[in-house]
Amino acid sequence: MSLPQPAPANPHFAKIGGAAAVDRLVEAFYRRVDTLPEAATIRAMHAPDLAATKSVLKRYLTEWMGGPRDYSRDRGPPRLRRVHAAFAIGPAERDAWMMCMSGALAEVVTDDELRAQLERAFLKVAETVRNDPDNRHDFGSNTRTPSAPGRVS
Ligand code: HEM
Repeated sequence: MSLPQPAPANPHFAKIGGAAAVDRLVEAFYRRVDTLPEAATIRAMHAPDLAATKSVLKRYLTEWMGGPRDYSRDRGPPRLRRVHAAFAIGPAERDAWMMCMSGALAEVVTDDELRAQLERAFLKVAETVRNDPDNRHDFGSNTRTPSAPGRVS
């Protein structure tokens, strides 16, 4: 008889539908980044070919939602504030990013509660990577891993 497995600390990866759903989410997100006029500024921050970035974001979100830890294996512990420090990210860029992610979530996540939870969690991370002078974070000193969605109330 096998013992019951403990529930994963962060079950979002399974709830959303695993790797196939994360794949669709990132594709839907970058389709918006690539085409929405409101996202032109953040599109310009990326290389013309988005393939490598998509692959990294898929690995990151998989891990962030409680799935396999391939991101950390390949790139080390996430340091999102450091990674984003090279780009000017203020409220307008945060909002453009969130517009693309909200649209992608609406396309991919059918469970209303899960979608709302993820949206709140993404917004927290987007606030964390903002690096304009108005950001309440002490820029440069906070390189902690942002909260995963499971740890957001
Ligand atoms: C707030 C607005 C944001 C902007 C403007 C932005 C922009 C960017 C840009 C330009 C890159 C570099 C892409 C490349 O090198 O090809 C990047 C990397 C990345 N972003 Fe964002 N980002 C934002 C928010 C977020 C959020 C909220 C998350 C996660 C929930 C996120 C996760 C990542 C990851 C995982 C990477 C790759 C890190 C690595 O190289 O290991 N970003 N972002």
